[in-house]
Amino acid sequence: MDDRIGPIGPCTENDLAGLLRLSSAQDWPHTEDDWRMILASGEVFGHRNIQDEILSCAAMIPYDSAGTGPSTSLGMIIVDAKARRRGLGQDLMTAAIQRTSSQTPSPLLRLISTLDGRPLYEKHGFRTVEKLHSYRRPAGVAPVGTHPPASGQELRLLDRSLVESVIALDASAFGHRRARMLQERIARAERSLVLFENAAPVGYGLLLRQKSLANLGPLVAPNDAAALILITELMSGLDSAAFRIDLPARQKAIFGQLEALGFIENDVPPIMLRSPDGTNFHGARALEGLNDAQKHYYGIAAQAFG
Ligand SMILES: CC(C)(COP(=O)(O)OP(=O)(O)OC[C@H]1O[C@@H](n2cnc3c(N)ncnc32)[C@H](O)[C@@H]1OP(=O)(O)O)[C@@H](O)C(=O)NCCC(=O)NCCS
Repeated sequence: MDDRIGPIGPCTENDLAGLLRLSSAQDWPHTEDDWRMILASGEVFGHRNIQDEILSCAAMIPYDSAGTGPSTSLGMIIVDAKARRRGLGQDLMTAAIQRTSSQTPSPLLRLISTLDGRPLYEKHGFRTVEKLHSYRRPAGVAPVGTHPPASGQELRLLDRSLVESVIALDASAFGHRRARMLQERIARAERSLVLFENAAPVGYGLLLRQKSLANLGPLVAPNDAAALILITELMSGLDSAAFRIDLPARQKAIFGQLEALGFIENDVPPIMLRSPDGTNFHGARALEGLNDAQKHYYGIAAQAFG
């Protein structure tokens, strides 16, 4: 077989089958619709062989400044097992960095790494700033307990009239404005709730399915008690589903309560950042720099989106 590999090029909806093949070969849970959402939220590119088969992919999801400059989330970085250790991973990273360094201002790059990816990312200037705690709750464990809203609090369905408020809440907690990606996820959410306190929106949460897995996130809340109200309400009545929520380590105070709800820690991958000019981040300093609103980020959207 001719194993020549072509240059990196863009991927589109015509490549859904090839992209799904790459993520499924990793046992990642992504569905075709997840790939559609990724394509609609940003840019996907990769290598092909002479037979036009996709051999690698990477996704870049751009976010706008919320006062601190833009950022881009890198994800879905995969090289087909039969083409590894030949420099394609290096090529994908170089292409991603070139694409962003030609933008003005250049965005901060972020990603959530696997064990395999970490040496590659470190070589390209990424540094771990925090760990992500990925929790799963198996299907069919005991019914979910409830944490009802306190006095002055109210849960509302996230309807169209609330989308702008949710995008703004998300931007203050995440640190960057993610309008396009959030609109895509809100449109696909099976459940979406906004928590009001004294008639003002203070938190929100989404539930999206990947086949039988119910993913909680993004989740923004003003404190642990409010996060639990959103989590248990999003889960209510879905006792037979398996659930997943991925939380940054800054939320460790709530982990015991998640375990009491039947969640089990499944993985603790690093969250890595690369500054726009490639200089190193010091993890602890990056965390000290978090403002109060950023302490309200309880659940990521998905690892590709941060
Ligand atoms: C991570 C991955 C994309 C690397 O792709 P690749 O094409 O094999 O990478 P390259 O050939 O460009 O190698 C890049 C460098 O990374 C390092 N590296 C790659 N795979 C490695 C591994 N399994 N263990 C240790 N180091 C590794 C090497 O240092 C290599 O540098 P070298 O050229 O000096 O040896 C690929 O292994 C992969 O798809 N893994 C599964 C999916 C995954 O985990 N992706 C990361 C998501 S965050």
